[in-house]
Amino acid sequence: MPQPTRRVAIVKTPVNNPHKGECFLGKVRDELNEVERELLVSIDPAKLPHHVAIIMDGNGRWAKQRGYLDRIRGHEAGIESVRVAVRACGELGVKALTLYAFSVENWKRPKREVDALMGLLKRFLRDEIPELNENNVRLVVSGRVNDLSEDVRAELSRTMEATSPNTGLVLNLALSYGGRAEIVDAVRAIVEDVQSGRLAPDNINEALFSQYLYHPELGDPDLLIRTSGEMRVSNFLLWQIAYTEFYVTPVLWPDFRRADLYRAILDYQRRERRFGEVKEV
Ligand code: IPE
Ligand code: IPE
Ligand code: MG
Repeated sequence: MPQPTRRVAIVKTPVNNPHKGECFLGKVRDELNEVERELLVSIDPAKLPHHVAIIMDGNGRWAKQRGYLDRIRGHEAGIESVRVAVRACGELGVKALTLYAFSVENWKRPKREVDALMGLLKRFLRDEIPELNENNVRLVVSGRVNDLSEDVRAELSRTMEATSPNTGLVLNLALSYGGRAEIVDAVRAIVEDVQSGRLAPDNINEALFSQYLYHPELGDPDLLIRTSGEMRVSNFLLWQIAYTEFYVTPVLWPDFRRADLYRAILDYQRRERRFGEVKEV
């Protein structure tokens, strides 16, 4: 018996809908230029990275490129890029942003540079509280915090406390941070728990190990950006980046702006994450 013809409405959904990110426009508090706008509206809100991590590199080269004799000028200029990245990630609805601000190895730099970096950090922590609160950003820190001076630790505690009720983006500052140091610190804590009888060695597995890292609740980064073109990890998040997507840009950190972040996210959205599996045969 012939079936009645069913009428099906064909809704056209373009594969590359260039306006899928229009929902973001209302949240942006800066004035966007044409390029930024075009990139932003192309971002797919359904495929955002939850956790973005950035190796903020190239401050020294930026200063040199501009003819400044002091590398510190580059570190100073990099603060604005931090502001832009935090704001832009918050607006997009990225859940966590980990910024590599100072590595355990960076202590080996000249004292003058280390002091300048610590001074800039203190000023950032002090001055940025209103902006962080306005953007609903909560600050946390990863690293060997006890290596930092008492005054830096005091500013850190104050800013973490002041932003603790915020429910938007979590800004995780990696300070005196080393990926190997983090793993060693986790091992030490695990051994302590085993010795005190709180943990049975049989229960140690990858999931449990992760719980001993500095901020397991943030999850592994989906996207790792490195500025200034270096193709190395420099002891950053060694455990967590097992399946993270890498994006390296030649842009030096002080030049990093919204468009660069949007390009990184768009590139990420074009990747196929397989986690070792085969998708479809
Ligand atoms: C990154 O810039 C900032 C820190 C590591 C603190 P650099 O100071 O490493 O700049 P380059 O890599 O020498 O250009
Ligand atoms: C990595 O950059 C550390 C930070 C961005 C804080 P570095 O400039 O210290 O790394 P290398 O020495 O080029 O590997
Ligand atoms: Mg560097």
